[in-house]
Amino acid sequence: MSSSVITVETKENVSQNLVIQPPASGLSLQGRIQIPGDKSISHRALMLGAIAQGQTQIKGLLLGEDPCSTASCFQAMGAEISELNSELVTVTGIGLGNLQEPADVLNAGNSGTTMRLMLGLLASHPGRFFTVTGDSSLRSRPMSRVVKPLQQMGAQIWGRQGNSLAPLAISGQALKPIHYHSPIASAQVKSCILLAGLLTEGQTTVTEPALSRDHSERMLRAFGAKLDIDPETNSVTITGPAHLVGQTVIVPGDISSAAFWLVAGAIVPNSDLVIENVGVNPTRTGILEALAMMGADIQLLNEREVAGEPVADLRVRSSRLQSCTIAGEIIPRLIDEIPILAVAAVFAEGRTVIKDAAELRVKESDRIAVMAQQLNQMGAKVTELPDGMEITGGTPLVATDLDSYTDHRIAMSLAIAALVATGTTTIHRAEAASISYPNFIPTLQSVISQ
Ligand code: S3P
Repeated sequence: MSSSVITVETKENVSQNLVIQPPASGLSLQGRIQIPGDKSISHRALMLGAIAQGQTQIKGLLLGEDPCSTASCFQAMGAEISELNSELVTVTGIGLGNLQEPADVLNAGNSGTTMRLMLGLLASHPGRFFTVTGDSSLRSRPMSRVVKPLQQMGAQIWGRQGNSLAPLAISGQALKPIHYHSPIASAQVKSCILLAGLLTEGQTTVTEPALSRDHSERMLRAFGAKLDIDPETNSVTITGPAHLVGQTVIVPGDISSAAFWLVAGAIVPNSDLVIENVGVNPTRTGILEALAMMGADIQLLNEREVAGEPVADLRVRSSRLQSCTIAGEIIPRLIDEIPILAVAAVFAEGRTVIKDAAELRVKESDRIAVMAQQLNQMGAKVTELPDGMEITGGTPLVATDLDSYTDHRIAMSLAIAALVATGTTTIHRAEAASISYPNFIPTLQSVISQ
């Protein structure tokens, strides 16, 4: 274990510079890593717990800033949520249809999942009025993708730029069921409509062009909702009104957080890491398939099922990587891992092409532009495409000053790149990592071996 490689400089008590200085003799990564709880599942456990009848117990909740935003929004609408911790959180639900009108604006912070999923619930609570906002990143992200289908169901929502940007005002209504053909494969869009369908009499169906993560479907069923799934057409139908009953949810480790260690273990020479308790739901394992295509040495150990979600320990050892093409239906199954996959591609022999990923431009930052710019600043050869990147691997990285653009996944991806750069890298605004991975820096320190 070594801390001399990593230094954190805190500026004005908030902003953090992460300084990474690998020794000239090189370093390797060794050890066992416990990753934080899955962000998507944590949000859904808090939300369904809040609107179900009775108590929900959540084990392994992610303590990142995003789930905290979800918890505070639902507390403001009447749910009782015990102090957040990763051991056991108890949510006392208020029963479906009983969200109270909050006395103030609901603040989703940086979290697109909080805002988009919550909108489906708010829009379907007749006679109540809600306002929602978020931080500057979230206020610039497109909400029309959920506002439009909700309006087709009869929702009344107002916001800037043709009701597409938060802050949004919602006058809850009794909605009518629709069959929505989503133009994008987005779990946030799908989940928003399914949650609106909970209180809507009749059958609400969402069809998406490719399968996105299915945590909402799994958890809604576990809480007692009637769902019909047609895998042939990527369609889900919910029959409302539903009755949800509180459950015990065991949150597996987040594969999106594990992805940083998978790539780090692959590209840092002589590394051997075991990442424990990782959720390997097939709608999330695109990263494993992409890294396998690139020749990474990753083993799934101790595969098991925990509370309705598949889980495994992942062992990664360094290997030579080759380029590949990442496009099509795999994209929604690894959408959050593309920034760190871009880092892997920089170390792969040949030209890696990432396509069909225009969604990356409307994440917490424009992840195509930011990753291309930051990696190129280190000497990589990355060309932006409208819907992805072309990356020619094999150029050594040189340390420099970098910026997270306040995007958690950019901060952590650049930290991994810095481990294999020559010289001292400073990543500005690295505190963003705590959105999804509060312990990222101590964990990194703990696995560095010199
Ligand atoms: C999420 C879905 C994905 C993902 C986000 C979490 C979710 O977004 O990028 O980090 O929990 O539903 P989209 O569904 O918009 O692609």
